[in-house]
Amino acid sequence: MQKTQLFDLDGKVALVTGASRGIGEAIAKLLAQQGAHVIISSRKIDDCQQVADAIVAAGGKASAIACHIGEMEQIGATIETIRSQFGKLDILVNNAATNPHFGNVLDTDLSAFQKTVDVNIRGYFFMSVAAGKLMRENGGGVILNVASVNGMVPAMMQGIYSITKAAVINMTKVFAKECAQFGIRCNALLPGLTDTKFASALVKNDSILKPALARIPLGRPADPSEMAGTVLYLVSDASSYTTGTAINVDGGMLA
Ligand SMILES: NC(=O)c1ccc[n+]([C@@H]2O[C@H](COP(=O)([O-])OP(=O)(O)OC[C@H]3O[C@@H](n4cnc5c(N)ncnc54)[C@H](OP(=O)(O)O)[C@@H]3O)[C@@H](O)[C@H]2O)c1
Repeated sequence: MQKTQLFDLDGKVALVTGASRGIGEAIAKLLAQQGAHVIISSRKIDDCQQVADAIVAAGGKASAIACHIGEMEQIGATIETIRSQFGKLDILVNNAATNPHFGNVLDTDLSAFQKTVDVNIRGYFFMSVAAGKLMRENGGGVILNVASVNGMVPAMMQGIYSITKAAVINMTKVFAKECAQFGIRCNALLPGLTDTKFASALVKNDSILKPALARIPLGRPADPSEMAGTVLYLVSDASSYTTGTAINVDGGMLA
């Protein structure tokens, strides 16, 4: 009996935003392990290059491109670089996001609001548009949006961030419905509490962590690597009939 090829990514080109650390790095490493050439992207090229070098040292294929997804011209330039280097893009993982406001919703200032919307909504949207056009030229591809459980149930003190994550879940359905005709699937991952720099304010503070864990049936935060398997499923042929969906990976929190 042969092992399944459903999770093979040989010959695929994948762009992962926010891949210099945390969940994005874990996703990038698993996609590379499955055979994809992974483009590691974030604002800081040196951090991206380090992750790419580690993948190459382990026998995988990877390169690095700096891209601030809140800057429109950098999104266009990134996709054009990928077009000229590879001629195609098979997989886009929209993962980089920001959460500058931690406090009551009434205290949200305009600059935090603007930054959160520009990165988490406009960035995901126009990265999907630019990547989607390249995918359409090549007969299809897969988009995976890293949203959050906060997009389903807003977390206290994280109002505008939660609102943008709800938008990402809706955006996932929009792209799924309108781009299926171009051979493009689009799905979302909804991580729960995951032990990364992003969540360090929660994970490292006992008075916040304890009540948070009480709401998680598995009783612990996730390791970033525990997000990657669901992403592999959603970007590979194993999920060829799945589009427009969002999968909670939250230790049972939303249950
Ligand atoms: N950790 C959690 O508990 C949790 C829960 C639910 C959802 N999520 C979601 O998971 C995703 C990844 O979060 P994480 O926890 O892995 O965070 P993280 O460890 O802080 O990593 C964030 C990554 O995004 C990059 N980045 C930040 N702002 C960027 C920008 N404007 N443009 C391009 N890259 C940018 C960072 O690198 P540079 O600094 O070099 O740009 C880094 O590579 C986010 O979408 C987040 O909302 C996380």
